[in-house]
Amino acid sequence: MPWYKVAFEPLGITAEVEGGNSLLEAAGKAGITINSVCGGDGICGRCKMMVKEGQVASEVSPLLTREEIRRGMVLACQSYVQSDLVVEIPEETRAREKIWIDREAQRFRAFHPGLQPREFSRSPLVFKVHLQLTAPSLHNQTDDCRRIEWMVEKLTGLTSMQMGLKVMRQIPEILRRHDFSVTATIGRRRDIGEIMDIEGGDTSGRNYFAVVDVGTSTIVAHLVDAIALSTVDAQACFNSQSLYGREVTSRIMAAERRGVEPLQSCLVEDINRLVSGMASRNRISLRDITAVVCAGNTTMMHFLLGLPVSNIRREPFVAVTLEPPPFRAAEVGIKINPRGLLYTLPGISSWVGGDLTAGILAAGLDEMEEIGMLIDIGTNGEIIVGNREWLVACSASAGPALEGASVGCGMVCEAGAIESVFLRDGKIGYKVIGDQPPAGICGSGIIDLIAVLLERKIIDRAGRLMEGSDPRVSSRDGQVCFLLGPEGRWGGREVYITQEDIDNVLTAKAAIFAATKILLERVEVRLSEVKRLFLAGGFGSYINRENAIKIGLLPDLPLSRIEYVGNTSILGAKLAALSEEAFLKLREIRKKTTYYDLLGSPDYVEQFRQAMFLPHTNIELFPSLAGWGAR
Ligand code: FES
Repeated sequence: MPWYKVAFEPLGITAEVEGGNSLLEAAGKAGITINSVCGGDGICGRCKMMVKEGQVASEVSPLLTREEIRRGMVLACQSYVQSDLVVEIPEETRAREKIWIDREAQRFRAFHPGLQPREFSRSPLVFKVHLQLTAPSLHNQTDDCRRIEWMVEKLTGLTSMQMGLKVMRQIPEILRRHDFSVTATIGRRRDIGEIMDIEGGDTSGRNYFAVVDVGTSTIVAHLVDAIALSTVDAQACFNSQSLYGREVTSRIMAAERRGVEPLQSCLVEDINRLVSGMASRNRISLRDITAVVCAGNTTMMHFLLGLPVSNIRREPFVAVTLEPPPFRAAEVGIKINPRGLLYTLPGISSWVGGDLTAGILAAGLDEMEEIGMLIDIGTNGEIIVGNREWLVACSASAGPALEGASVGCGMVCEAGAIESVFLRDGKIGYKVIGDQPPAGICGSGIIDLIAVLLERKIIDRAGRLMEGSDPRVSSRDGQVCFLLGPEGRWGGREVYITQEDIDNVLTAKAAIFAATKILLERVEVRLSEVKRLFLAGGFGSYINRENAIKIGLLPDLPLSRIEYVGNTSILGAKLAALSEEAFLKLREIRKKTTYYDLLGSPDYVEQFRQAMFLPHTNIELFPSLAGWGAR
């Protein structure tokens, strides 16, 4: 296929793409983020673009009006490049800022937010040690490398070391230019310490890590000072892979058609952009970032490493590896210290990844005497139950609705997002992050909104919006909806929730509730025996636990037993980055955790169907809601 130039107006950005690529992919290549809510499935209608010059081959779509088609409007995800093009991207098609400051990071800057501090020995995965060596003489002709290794052994106790040829070649010059005062950077590679770098002088006070949660929808990166044990900065962005589908499975299928490389590039570019942004903002040299530690689901880790992914989605669902060794970060294209290492956290199964082992570690589930539970809500919902003796995990496909995606006006937790909705004096009110006009609604706000609509009987227990129940029940895009923030403007759009959005939320919460219920039944644990429930995920700020129970997302436990612990994936990854002991603990957790495959559960479909009500078909499962008005 020939290559073509696609010029995007009014941005003045041009991308070169192979013929047959979609306009959505071309925009991604140009670094333009599109509101592709449905991930390119052609069903959300949010990726409209106007073809001003050139030819595209477009699929017919009912989401375009005759007038739009006449003006040359197409859906970018359903239109394929056939020639050089000039394309106009309307304002409302572009996603807002590509990178945002991770608001959760402000709250979770501490290493143990809302969690019992868990102490591990201070032993970062990569560390620096200053070596003041004795200069050689006729009486001391020890070779340069041995001289370094001997001192490292003396100062650190490390006995097993290796060194690459590149480093070795530089040693004589560096030692002599700096009067034998040098700093060795040492990376822990399983049982061996690798002398990764030798610098002149004492640079042992500068050692940083990039710790990254590679989520299906969003990527969150924290820059961590490995000496001060503090979080220096945090940023997040949408996962650019959304061009290839919302869900993990559709991305695996995209990789089967096009190869893993384009999906790997998306992740690597996202990570590089986040890390370099934080480094330059904090005036930290990339050379001083010596490791990147990544947690993510098994598929994301495979994409990051460029590993084949097909077998993850095909029975018997086998990964290439659940415990990859550390690699050189540069080998996958991540730009930190050229000799820096990339660590990926060990996963439990093809469908429960290192983000969950990190979550178990951060929550301390593996140390609890009594029974605890961790529910991590992302595009995939993962549930783990157990204690220090045993752990069982399962995973359910929830879709991204509770993260603010696949909801028309949904957005991530950033300035302008409605983060909570409440009833005050009988009126529906809301709170916006940054106290500004609303631009959309994030996960915590969506949960509140559904609970409030149910309480006000604006939706029924099946989640159906009742026309005539409230003046704000209206219609948009041919769908019945509830207008929440008519005064808000985001690219000319109001903030509202449609029937389809509500259905997406119901599907997500039903998947999680059904999985939770089945898992408890399989391990023969009564709900009352669960003494602590850790709720993890990127909802926004303080999730209203009561509302999460009211809509049947969480089981009916006393509120005092439910703790919202935020992004445990990144918390666990930080613990592991700063302590080899914690990193090794992850391997123990991995071995100790049994994966329960819901596909093997004969009653999952029935349980899911029953949970598609608010809060559930069987109201007896929610005794605390006995006096609640919506019942
Ligand atoms: S219709 Fe194109 S991204 Fe949804």
